[in-house]
Amino acid sequence: MKKILVTGGTGYIGTHTVVDLIEQGYEVISVDNFCRSDARMLQGIEAITGKKVINYAIDLCSLADTRTVFEEHPDITGIIHFAAYKAVGESVEQPLLYFENNLQSLINLLKCVQDYRIPNVVFSSSCTVYGEPELIPVTEETPLQPATSPYGLTKQIGEQMLQSFVQANPCSVLLLRYFNPAGAHPSAHIGELPIGRPQNLVPAITQTAIGVIDHLQVHGTDYATRDGSCIRDFIHVCDLARAHTLGIQLLEKEGRTHHVEAINLGSGTGMTVLECIHAFEKVSGEKLNWSVGPRRPGDVVAIYANNEKAQSRLGWQARFGIDDIMATAWEWEQRYRSGRTVLGS
Ligand code: WQD
Repeated sequence: MKKILVTGGTGYIGTHTVVDLIEQGYEVISVDNFCRSDARMLQGIEAITGKKVINYAIDLCSLADTRTVFEEHPDITGIIHFAAYKAVGESVEQPLLYFENNLQSLINLLKCVQDYRIPNVVFSSSCTVYGEPELIPVTEETPLQPATSPYGLTKQIGEQMLQSFVQANPCSVLLLRYFNPAGAHPSAHIGELPIGRPQNLVPAITQTAIGVIDHLQVHGTDYATRDGSCIRDFIHVCDLARAHTLGIQLLEKEGRTHHVEAINLGSGTGMTVLECIHAFEKVSGEKLNWSVGPRRPGDVVAIYANNEKAQSRLGWQARFGIDDIMATAWEWEQRYRSGRTVLGS
């Protein structure tokens, strides 16, 4: 059984990917210091898979601690690296926190890839590297624009570090560029852990519907789009998870060295903010309390993916649509708030 190291294994996308890897026959080791997640998510993984996943609660910014994982698991054959801070607004207020955490952790991990000769690495990147694209849908060849936040800059620098790293090291790397991850596992045993007031649209919608937030503010409806609100590409977190497993399988099958390539992970469908609100209301039967507010600085007007490369290279298809995203996000929100998840009340 091949062993995969997942950093950020108790985070939102990390937990869903750990579940998919296990279901596809992998053994998984997690590294997560719970600074932005909850250790009880490991119970959610066990509830779904029946497996107790070993987690190292260490800080990847400590090279010594990071090495211990590889010393104790010399049979690791691949790494999926999620662990990073990802709040755009926070990164603008605290850029050094983001540069130190997101880049130092990657450097330490790559030192271990080099020293322990790990052949395959999947890197969690983001559509944010495209900035405001001139043409949509974006392909992997769409020119990258200057990052619009320190968070986005750490993703661009991470990609560039990996481009240089594979020139000098015989490993194979995938840069997976996520569009807008949303939704939750159909079992509702795992989902997005709300930390503070959500910046992202879907958790803001479900928290408004459940009453945690009194009303949702739509950040601008005066854009040059079909209904004036921004356009985004929402991808179900389970589809995103499956793409990571398929990515590791591709690297294993091809066995290439000194190789790196980017792949967009989006549904290929652009939805406006208002269309998302209507989709939620249709699926949940709830009337959402929302109003129009000012534009949010830094917002991209419209972006969605050309996902043909994910289809051809990974054999990947998005199985879930916006209705599934809203239904599973709503189920998770209701269970979480009623104390019926592993996170208790
Ligand atoms: C989507 C749209 C908001 C909340 C972010 C990161 C990106 C990636 C995905 C990690 C925008 C509008 C939102 C609200 C609103 N993360 N909105 N009211 O900004 O596209 O991307 O998450 O990789 O890096 O930047 O996602 O969900 O924050 O916003 O009107 O209460 O919803 O203005 O137009 P975004 P988002």
